[in-house]
Amino acid sequence: SVIYLKDYKVPPFLIDKTELTFDLDEATTIVTSRLHMRRNPAFGKSTAPLVLDGGEDVKLIGVAMDDYALPPEEYRISEDKLIITATADEFILTCETLIEPQNNTRLEGLYRSSSMFCTQCEAEGFRHITYYLDRPDVMSVFTTTIIADEARYPVMLSNGNEVERGKTDEGKTVVVWHDPFPKPAYLFALVAGDLAVKNDVFTTQSKRDIKLQIFTESHNIDKVDYAMEALKRSMRWDEETYGREYDLDIFMIVAVDDFNMGAMENKGLNIFNSSCLLASPETTTDDTYLRVEAIVAHEYFHNWSGNRVTCRDWFQLSLKEGFTVFRDQTFSADMHSDTVKRVEDVSFLKTAQFAEDAGPMAHPVRPASFIEISNFYTLTVYEKGAEIVRMIHTLLGAEKFRAGSDLYFDRHDGQAVTCDDFVAAMQDASGVDLTQFKRWYSQAGTPIVTVTDRFDEATGTYRLTMKQDTPATPGQPTKLPLHIPVRVGLLDQQGTVISAEVNGVRAEDHVLHLNASEQEFEFSGLTSKPVPSLLRGFSAPVKLRYDYSSKDLLLLLSSDSDGFNRWSAAQQLAVNELTTLINQAIEGQTLSIDSQLVHGFKALLNDETLDPAMVALILALPSQAYLSELANPIYPAAIKQARQYLKGQLANALETDFERVYRQHKIQGEYQPAAEDIAHRSLKNIALSYWVESGSELAQQELVAQFKTANNMTDQFAALSIVVNTQQKQADVLLNAFYEQWKAEPLVVNKWLMLSASQEQETALETVKGLMEHPAFDLKNPNKVRSVLGGFGQSISGFHKMDGSGYHFLADQIILLNKRNPQIASRLCTPLTRWKKMQPELSIKMKAELERILAEDLSKDVYEVISKSLA
Ligand code: ARG
Ligand code: ZN
Repeated sequence: SVIYLKDYKVPPFLIDKTELTFDLDEATTIVTSRLHMRRNPAFGKSTAPLVLDGGEDVKLIGVAMDDYALPPEEYRISEDKLIITATADEFILTCETLIEPQNNTRLEGLYRSSSMFCTQCEAEGFRHITYYLDRPDVMSVFTTTIIADEARYPVMLSNGNEVERGKTDEGKTVVVWHDPFPKPAYLFALVAGDLAVKNDVFTTQSKRDIKLQIFTESHNIDKVDYAMEALKRSMRWDEETYGREYDLDIFMIVAVDDFNMGAMENKGLNIFNSSCLLASPETTTDDTYLRVEAIVAHEYFHNWSGNRVTCRDWFQLSLKEGFTVFRDQTFSADMHSDTVKRVEDVSFLKTAQFAEDAGPMAHPVRPASFIEISNFYTLTVYEKGAEIVRMIHTLLGAEKFRAGSDLYFDRHDGQAVTCDDFVAAMQDASGVDLTQFKRWYSQAGTPIVTVTDRFDEATGTYRLTMKQDTPATPGQPTKLPLHIPVRVGLLDQQGTVISAEVNGVRAEDHVLHLNASEQEFEFSGLTSKPVPSLLRGFSAPVKLRYDYSSKDLLLLLSSDSDGFNRWSAAQQLAVNELTTLINQAIEGQTLSIDSQLVHGFKALLNDETLDPAMVALILALPSQAYLSELANPIYPAAIKQARQYLKGQLANALETDFERVYRQHKIQGEYQPAAEDIAHRSLKNIALSYWVESGSELAQQELVAQFKTANNMTDQFAALSIVVNTQQKQADVLLNAFYEQWKAEPLVVNKWLMLSASQEQETALETVKGLMEHPAFDLKNPNKVRSVLGGFGQSISGFHKMDGSGYHFLADQIILLNKRNPQIASRLCTPLTRWKKMQPELSIKMKAELERILAEDLSKDVYEVISKSLA
């Protein structure tokens, strides 16, 4: 059944205090809750029954009202609800329930991961623990008692502070935790296990000492130092940038191996997928180091943007996620390079979020309806949501934005609020009118901004005409104009940035407000026709159309003062070239390239003033996925062929340049995951991949040597990836050697699974089937499933096999996981949801698999995605 935002009503009951007792055991766990409840005055006078949420996996043992045990005729259980008809206005409800965490394969609620108990309650996991008002606008003060055998579970954790510790008559240990901050059930957490801990202390700006603890299984405790340092940097940054200080006396993080998502911001007790927390030079690549830092920051920042101020209902998810992603992006930019971070984030947005926004699951940042909320933890809610907050930052300027954020936290501390409340605070603190801007929250689809220009010699006036148009999306056939901030600069034909006047303001950089479907902007005081640098810093999440010549793009690439747009120009040049090649490949013509791009790349490789990280990003070429997003229809094999051809041509033409760059950027000494070193490694490794591509014997020797002697995973894995992508014969030998070397490190094995599954070879499908039988594989572990099936999705020759057997295989796995772990099964559907955009022969094969899945008895999660894809 569909749930609509417009049906929102305040809860009929409130829970002021929640007292939970967990008697943890190997076979059954007994949960006793004492809920201090009362009717909600805001609901109005009512005799409405009390309806509590509870999963089908929760067995009710008994329920009592103010210690009066209810006989069966006084309550009823219907599907996933416990309904109690007659209640007083204020009462204590006691519930005893039985759950089996060891059989919980959904990984929602309380479950087992290796030898420990852990929880995941967002969004609606708490109802798999006990009956409750499982909605974010019911905030309660939690006291949690954990009873367990100390020998097996010496560490027993929950939210807040440990307030008591003792023994039961049977000799079990009892630990009581109390969290003074009211919170919704989705922020509840419990962990019990035999865990090692790393301790540290952070002194806040007001000189309070906060105890910091990171817990892992004992063999991993040597891999948490980086996360601990990242946590301290995050705490300091949030004080300095947002004036937000940590509130409890203790902050804990626990790493678990089996986790559906990246991490979770439970109050005072964050729980992380171990792949997003653990790091060591030998086992972790540079990009994972950056990811660990960003996710540690993200979850920590939620303590204010999410926990102290939370969401009224799940339609408002972006209230906390969009804002928190924006906060973590800015944090990472401050820790490393602003431009590099922006390029990475925008690349990801344009590749994956734009594809989502153009597909059958397209939805507004604040969705209007859903069947299963887990399906809405999307790139749109997170990444486009962050872009909305970034646009507010652009419209207000840094100072007023900070005033808006202060007002928001101050006004809504302890409340569950909406995206409108957030915008209202920003508006009230700044005086900037955001009425039209708010449409960004409710309108789905990526706007297309088309720009044309003309120059009037006589008056020295340059005019930009901008049109905006948002394509129809499911359920939203017509669209309104948005308020789009377009940051613009102008360059003269020599590449000098020129200052011009717009509406009486002279500057080198202007934020233009595009808020009608068509609008003209006038720049005066020019002497010749400029080259416009449009949408600087990617000031709005739109598709920009302007007819740049290659000459303009080369000028922007070499001279724009906006680093982001230099990258953007290079990307556009490569896209133009690749589009020609893709069309040649589709037509079955011989491929051939324009020498302009070769010259451009040569200049890039020889310009020592450039940031090596930016050069590496450009050399990476637009990805298969990004080119697919641009294409309609998508011919996967043609895209692959075009990319390979272009890479080969560049490699041959610039062999000596690549060799030199490779040697220049080798760094000596100990591994450091610092921006500068990461930049050198990324450029060195991409240069190596081109150099190898040129067929050089010497390059080949360097490659194998790097694989064998690297002192860090970044270099070793880069070498292995190059081998796997270029020479199939050697690939098996080195993949085996790599596995033998790292089989005791599950996170490295996951990388091995992913790379093995992504190989381009005739037998790719057999390879992936073999991997799923491999001892290193485990269907219960989401990371392993993601590695193998995610890797497989990247293999054109495997996944997009013309006979449809790749799609058939993925559909089988979705059906297999549908009931076991609905969230993971639903995520696996994504590649198939793109069926309408595929070349006709593949499109019908994908559609047939969607129909085959739909005929199964489906979880809500999978049903929603599949049925919407076929609609
Ligand atoms: N709030 C978490 C984060 O963004 C994500 C958890 C979502 N989990 C889920 N199963 N839907 O950090
Ligand atoms: Zn989050």
